[in-house]
Amino acid sequence: KDVRISRISSSIRVIPDFPKPGIMFQDITTMLLDPVAFKDTIDLFVERYREKNISVVAGVEARGFIFGPPIALALGAKFVPIRKPNKLPGEVISEEYSLEYGTDIMEMHVGAVQKGERVLVIDDLIATGGTLVAAIKLLERVGADVVECACVIELADLKGRDRLGDKPLFVLVSSTC
Ligand code: PRP
Ligand code: MG
Repeated sequence: KDVRISRISSSIRVIPDFPKPGIMFQDITTMLLDPVAFKDTIDLFVERYREKNISVVAGVEARGFIFGPPIALALGAKFVPIRKPNKLPGEVISEEYSLEYGTDIMEMHVGAVQKGERVLVIDDLIATGGTLVAAIKLLERVGADVVECACVIELADLKGRDRLGDKPLFVLVSSTC
């Protein structure tokens, strides 16, 4: 397992000062260029959730759309996209969340997730945790049971994990500045 984590970790490119000065951007697109590292990433999540009776994998736009669907297929679960505003065509529920400057909105289709379904939430990265908190709120508003959130990378210094309260968070790589 450690060999896989090391390969995943070193396949992620860090780009300084993107999108603005002072930000060390964790770029997962270089991992996608390494099919072994990408497969190991998916396999590690699938191994963790295989016996957990997950019926829904919810992925957060945009980068949760890269990791969520292969995990959903391997688990035999539905994939549900949680999207930025005005992208989903059907009836939606919306949840506002805070960004470094201002707020944004996440939306989910009404009817995509049923009351009591066991959901895994996937994104590439947790920073402040605001995005995952919004996703959890949307799912819990429709009565879903959010079993866990899972990310490839955690920016540990930002303590986003604390904002999730007692909701479990699983990450492959924890990064400190
Ligand atoms: C990034 C990242 C997470 C989120 C984490 O997405 O992919 O979704 O930020 O930040 P937080 O924990 O502080 O909420 P971004 O909003 O940049 O959009 P993208 O995935 O569409 O590129
Ligand atoms: Mg994102």
